[in-house]
Amino acid sequence: MTTAVAAGAYPFLAEGGLGADGIYIGRDVHAEAAFCFDPFALYGRLEGFTNPNMLLAGIIGMGKSALAKSLATRAIAHNYRVYVPCDPRGEWTSVAAALGGQTIALGPGLPGRLNPLDAPARPAGTSEEDWAGEVRKRRLLLIGSLAQTVLGRELQPMEHTALDVALDEVVGYTSRIGGTPLLRHIANVLANPKYLGGTPASPERLASAAENLAHALRRLVAGDLAGMFDAPSTVAFDPTAPMLTIDLSRLGTAGDDTALVLAMTCASAWMESALADPTGGRRWVIYDEAWRLMRHVPLLERMQAQWKLSRGLGIANLMVIHRLSDLLSAGDAGSRGRALAEGLLTDCSTRVIYRQETDQLATATTLLGLTSVETDAIAALTKGRGLWKVAGRSFIVQHLLHPTERALFDTDARMHTTPATHR
Ligand SMILES: Nc1ncnc2c1ncn2[C@@H]1O[C@H](COP(=O)(O)OP(=O)(O)O)[C@@H](O)[C@H]1O
Ligand SMILES: [Mg+2]
Repeated sequence: MTTAVAAGAYPFLAEGGLGADGIYIGRDVHAEAAFCFDPFALYGRLEGFTNPNMLLAGIIGMGKSALAKSLATRAIAHNYRVYVPCDPRGEWTSVAAALGGQTIALGPGLPGRLNPLDAPARPAGTSEEDWAGEVRKRRLLLIGSLAQTVLGRELQPMEHTALDVALDEVVGYTSRIGGTPLLRHIANVLANPKYLGGTPASPERLASAAENLAHALRRLVAGDLAGMFDAPSTVAFDPTAPMLTIDLSRLGTAGDDTALVLAMTCASAWMESALADPTGGRRWVIYDEAWRLMRHVPLLERMQAQWKLSRGLGIANLMVIHRLSDLLSAGDAGSRGRALAEGLLTDCSTRVIYRQETDQLATATTLLGLTSVETDAIAALTKGRGLWKVAGRSFIVQHLLHPTERALFDTDARMHTTPATHR
């Protein structure tokens, strides 16, 4: 068919677009129009758009982080605040600095400290009693996931009881002396059966259940992560700062991700308690390189809890992975990990797919329900260009970088510059 006939046969081939509301991203390649996106502007306007969360997948170097950083930078102009609890490469630090935000760098030998047991400020309208219950629940969940990560298994009922008792003992003690609870207090109580009285279980049996927990927490108190999470926080959470990032690049370089995961658990608990304020305004929470976290069930559980809360709290979560099969690596079919990871995908109304390797196309097609045209398209995407699936609508968008952004976001810089000593 000639192009003239084709144009007559398919007169309105291009998408109408999502409208001009929201954050400018770049160019809609098919419609030759500007493409704007704002997860909160799409509520009620777009059928099937049930949550503000977003998944971004693509092979290395295609511009995923650049897109996330642009979204963050431009969102700030729309009155958003941006939180990056997971930055395993430390590449968000310069972005935060340029935007007047804060970075906490965590790692052996660094001065930054976060006390994951910090109690967040009580939101207005919550009674003292209700809030104490909420804080206790959060702390238990956190200590439970830390122990679970180190032990590499789920906790047993008796161990949960031991944690309960230990936490109450520590909170009672610190409120008497007027300090904040620290992980080392918990570890001490767990290691000393005499503190574990007053429970229905026999103290000896409880003490033996507590023993493993005490050793698990030791890693954060005396082991390779000593200090970082076991002292009063060196930074106060500043709810007015436009951006807060947690630089985890000094952790988990030795091939073992456990340190990274423990740090991420503590850091996200600390951040989440500050994010729980429903009057905090609209926020983006960005997990860059999130594929490294996919195999850790306790972290997936935390993320899922955040995902579920997102709409009520005005938070949009963005998870960056390499390929869709990263979600499958969370566990075997039918396992808890896999169910959690697939749940995260379901709870992302916006999926942005950057270029995928050819062997990944089948997985992407099944998981996302792509058409054959879309599948062909993602195999051929170039840098900064992605397939945006927004609640069933689909766009090919070229992300456009401002020259200032380009200089600020350049992760290839280290490859171009030769260190002075090598010249
Ligand atoms: N839309 C774009 N236009 C031009 N250059 C881009 C674009 N997106 C990314 N880049 C450049 O490509 C390089 C790699 O991008 P990056 O976001 O770090 O990739 P990824 O996170 O996918 O591995 C960066 O130096 C960045 O400046
Ligand atoms: Mg990146």
